[in-house]
Amino acid sequence: MINFEYYTPTKYIFGKGTECATGEKAKACGMNKVLIVYGKGSALRSGLLNRVEASLDTAGIGFLTLGGVKPNPEDDLVEEGIAICRREHVDGLIAVGGGSVIDTAKAIAVGVPYSGDFRDFWAGSATVAAALPVGAVLTIPAAGSEGSNSIVITIREGLIKKSLRTDLARPKFAILNPELTFTLPPYQTAAGISDMLAHVMERYFSPTEDVEITDRLCEGVMSAIIEEAPKVMARPLDYQARANIMWSGTMAHNGICGCGRCEDWYSHWMEHEISALYGVTHGAGLSVVFSAYLAYMAEHKPVKVAQLARRVFGVDTVDNTEAAHKGVRRMREFYASIGMPLTFRQLGVDNPDLELLAGRLHKLYGDTVCNYLPLRQPDTLEIYRMML
Ligand code: NZQ
Ligand code: ZN
Repeated sequence: MINFEYYTPTKYIFGKGTECATGEKAKACGMNKVLIVYGKGSALRSGLLNRVEASLDTAGIGFLTLGGVKPNPEDDLVEEGIAICRREHVDGLIAVGGGSVIDTAKAIAVGVPYSGDFRDFWAGSATVAAALPVGAVLTIPAAGSEGSNSIVITIREGLIKKSLRTDLARPKFAILNPELTFTLPPYQTAAGISDMLAHVMERYFSPTEDVEITDRLCEGVMSAIIEEAPKVMARPLDYQARANIMWSGTMAHNGICGCGRCEDWYSHWMEHEISALYGVTHGAGLSVVFSAYLAYMAEHKPVKVAQLARRVFGVDTVDNTEAAHKGVRRMREFYASIGMPLTFRQLGVDNPDLELLAGRLHKLYGDTVCNYLPLRQPDTLEIYRMML
């Protein structure tokens, strides 16, 4: 186990009706006037936005709204939000939505106190030193942004989709009401499940050995996700299954599954290139990436794939390579069972430019990537090819 710091300052408020506590929680964080950020309209249609506004009213907190965040959010709305916050002397952000909305709110939060262009943070030429407080009302368990230190934004110039990591961006509180996820379309539910599984696997596939406690946590979260997923797919109004999936999504990405070892994140980089260029749903891109990544690792470094196969899928084969290949098959069957794609074509990308994808990835992250098994550009190209 390597040395680590584990910092998860977010207060989670979980359960039915909890969105009505938004105002009270915001007040406790010192917010007096907030900008509510939301997406393309699901929060409006469900009446959630009204309930959040009423709760802020009751707590005596003023608010403005900024809607229209689209999936795979871009920098233009962040810029608009920063301008509003400065002009209106806003002192906090309330995100009502999923990862795209929460990330937009977090980006605004770090951008407001910074005198330069907030894009500097993503370019690596400046470090976040301050941020407005952010509260999240989560409507889709997926990205885990409600508890993470990460902000994923696409900078339109150059189509750079990249994660910025800073503890200052971690939400002060996150409201998790599983009932808010009842309205999710099946594809979004499934994509969320794929994303949270990916967040665990990015931490599971680590070069650091002998971190049994973290391995077991990862395997527990993955097993729960795989067991609960068919229930939410079959019965979207099953509160208990929705609750289990919602908490799994947060656990998968708030840091607990990565303690004591080096994480990977190469698969996310591969997916971010795909969604930056082709605008696909992040979780759906990840089932394609992981179908290939696991198969590649089953051949080149099977040990951890075999462990996953045995402990999560109950494979009892002794030989590592054989067990790993069985695990890959089981994972692919799982993705397919919830309607997630396994190939570029199933993802809706008929002619992906593989050279461009691999070239962009290595330009952004360097010649050698992937902590679990160091890889160079030809290897990345081969893994992209396995997604055809
Ligand atoms: O825009 P609206 O109308 O709200 O519709 C959204 C959107 O179309 C819809 N939706 C959300 N909640 C709903 C709902 N529809 C009906 N009922 C509800 N209750 O779902 C669609 C997807 O929303 P989005 O926020 O894009 O989903 P997700 O949470 O998967 O976020 C994806 C983004 O997060 C980034 C991804 O790259 C992507 O940009 N990530 C952020 C991370 C982080 N900050 O820690 C980590 C992740 O790995 C990920 O990269
Ligand atoms: Zn993700």
